[in-house]
Amino acid sequence: MASLTHRALRELVMSFGGCDEYFTEMISAGALVAGGPLEKFYLDSQPKPELVVYQLVGDDTLTIVRAAEIMNRYPSRGIDINMGCSAPFIKKKGGGVAWMLKQDQAVGLIDILKRKSPTTRLSVKMRLGVQDDPEDLLQFCKRLKSAGLDRITLHPRTANQKFKRRARWGAVQELKESIELEVIGNGDIGTFIELKEKSQGPWDGVMVGRAAVQQPWIFLWAQNLAESRLSVDLEETDLKFLHLLEIHQPKEFFISRALLFFSYFAHNVIWHHNLYTQLQKCTTRKEIEYLWREYFVDNPEERIKLRPETSE
Ligand SMILES: Cc1cc2nc3c(=O)[nH]c(=O)nc-3n(C[C@H](O)[C@H](O)[C@H](O)COP(=O)(O)O)c2cc1C
Repeated sequence: MASLTHRALRELVMSFGGCDEYFTEMISAGALVAGGPLEKFYLDSQPKPELVVYQLVGDDTLTIVRAAEIMNRYPSRGIDINMGCSAPFIKKKGGGVAWMLKQDQAVGLIDILKRKSPTTRLSVKMRLGVQDDPEDLLQFCKRLKSAGLDRITLHPRTANQKFKRRARWGAVQELKESIELEVIGNGDIGTFIELKEKSQGPWDGVMVGRAAVQQPWIFLWAQNLAESRLSVDLEETDLKFLHLLEIHQPKEFFISRALLFFSYFAHNVIWHHNLYTQLQKCTTRKEIEYLWREYFVDNPEERIKLRPETSE
């Protein structure tokens, strides 16, 4: 997720036991090929590169192929092409979900990428499409598979739905049952219970987005349902995140990325609205830390978050 799934968040999730694999934020193929000074931060796949999937976003075949060549010099679990982003500034230029409207070119792109680097695990993240047309989606996926695609992550909403309506997980099942290809489902997993339930579905895996930012411990809580009394120290966690962000991200990104993270994480506390309004005025790490410390001085009972009891 753009500006969110960088190394600092990854390490925070890992500090709670982690998950099976991590996607980078979408990396602009054009910027990577141009070789800007910040690209090294986007390409940082440490501390467990074998679990990190680089995601590329771009609108032009040649640029994406060149960017993938650069990525292939770094250790990773694979490369993912973003064919799902519906943000207007990406889609208008022909990137993200717009690839689903130029299927011949999309298939050609996968074909070239696979031929150039047959051992790279190649995946695509997509939405249902611009329209909800299951047959069109299936034929597109079949063609991508024939071109060499190894897996698909499906966020089952149309481009225009953005985050409206519930993700239609039935579409993930339909796709999985219609194609011999790894299919990962994504969308609206909000709690550790939902993660556990969805993990048992007929697909090959699930991807968690926003909930992993709000609850970096979600994987731990979902995996250990039998264990009682799991808890997390929220104050320790927000301080840890700030520390990781400072050491792993460029200075100029610090405040904007901290605030984006806290726009999700702050939902762990009752007075998040007030707190986040204050946080938005911060311009330094010290000010952010101060607000969090003050919050728990005023609301000490909220500092430790207990996992709700489950029936297992
Ligand atoms: C702030 C934000 C940034 C995102 N950036 C990306 C991105 O860079 N690449 C991508 O494939 N999806 C991106 N997404 C979409 C998510 O990966 C995911 O498909 C969507 O949020 C639904 O999953 P969730 O309900 O688990 O969050 C982003 C979503 C959000 C909210």
